[in-house]
Amino acid sequence: MSRPRLEGKVAIITGGASGIGEATARLFASEGALVIIADIQDELGRAVAASIGLDRCAYRHCDVRDEKQLEAAVDFAVRTHGRLDVLFSNAGKVGPVGPILEASLEVWDDVMAVNARGAAAAVKHAARAMVARGTRGSIVCTASVAASRGGAGVAAYVASKHAVLGLVRAAAVELGEHGIRVNCVSPSAVATPLACEHLGGSPSKVEEYGEALSRLKGVVLKTSHIAEAALFLASDESEFITGHDLVVDGGRTVVGQNTRTFLKK
Ligand SMILES: NC(=O)c1ccc[n+]([C@@H]2O[C@H](COP(=O)([O-])OP(=O)(O)OC[C@H]3O[C@@H](n4cnc5c(N)ncnc54)[C@H](O)[C@@H]3O)[C@@H](O)[C@H]2O)c1
Repeated sequence: MSRPRLEGKVAIITGGASGIGEATARLFASEGALVIIADIQDELGRAVAASIGLDRCAYRHCDVRDEKQLEAAVDFAVRTHGRLDVLFSNAGKVGPVGPILEASLEVWDDVMAVNARGAAAAVKHAARAMVARGTRGSIVCTASVAASRGGAGVAAYVASKHAVLGLVRAAAVELGEHGIRVNCVSPSAVATPLACEHLGGSPSKVEEYGEALSRLKGVVLKTSHIAEAALFLASDESEFITGHDLVVDGGRTVVGQNTRTFLKK
């Protein structure tokens, strides 16, 4: 039997109570990691941790908008397990949909506070713990296909995900000298509570939408696909990869205008 891919590694997953984060928490734990779920959905987070097994997984309340709470989550990992090897900075929100002409800057601040500022604070405190102990850690952020493309009605979200990609690239440059890698995964539409709420549909509707956009046919994007990509970036299998945006979108963004479909219309 092959060795678990994260054997003995300590990982924090923000937004780990639901969706992509939950799937990743389960996968990381099954690959030998000790996982700390950091989220604001306490009941759900505790239930997920318990179902994974409290010997492998703990839940911590952590609002990523509050730097102190992120620092406390990192301290908890170090106090409990003596180290931190992996951060999966994944907590995120879309916020209300609306035109830029009527944009609420309060909404803008809130979306940026979770997606961009929250990721920056998570990277800062995780990296500090890694540097202090000489840990050659791996930091993975969840960006989005919206990190490298525009999108109507969600300017704050698109801007915040562009910021995540910028953060990943900038942090990779600085943290490389400490042997710390920083990468991101960029999912296309995957049926999670966030996507169902944003697109106003059932999981099957979100999957239908995702399938229509994907160039790769015969496979539907699931949270497990994103979790597998995060696992690859978290593990030593990606030892020489840093500053990379691993897009998991079935080829959605490799084309701009689909000329043939356009001509057929
Ligand atoms: N689902 C998609 O289609 C899709 C596509 C691209 C990117 N993403 C990104 O994936 C990430 C995970 O989202 P998901 O789709 O799994 O949705 P989800 O709603 O299932 O999970 C998001 C989690 O983040 C947590 N969270 C929100 N605000 C927080 C805060 N302030 N502090 C701590 N935790 C907080 C939520 O409680 C939730 O558990 C997000 O960053 C999202 O932007 C999702």
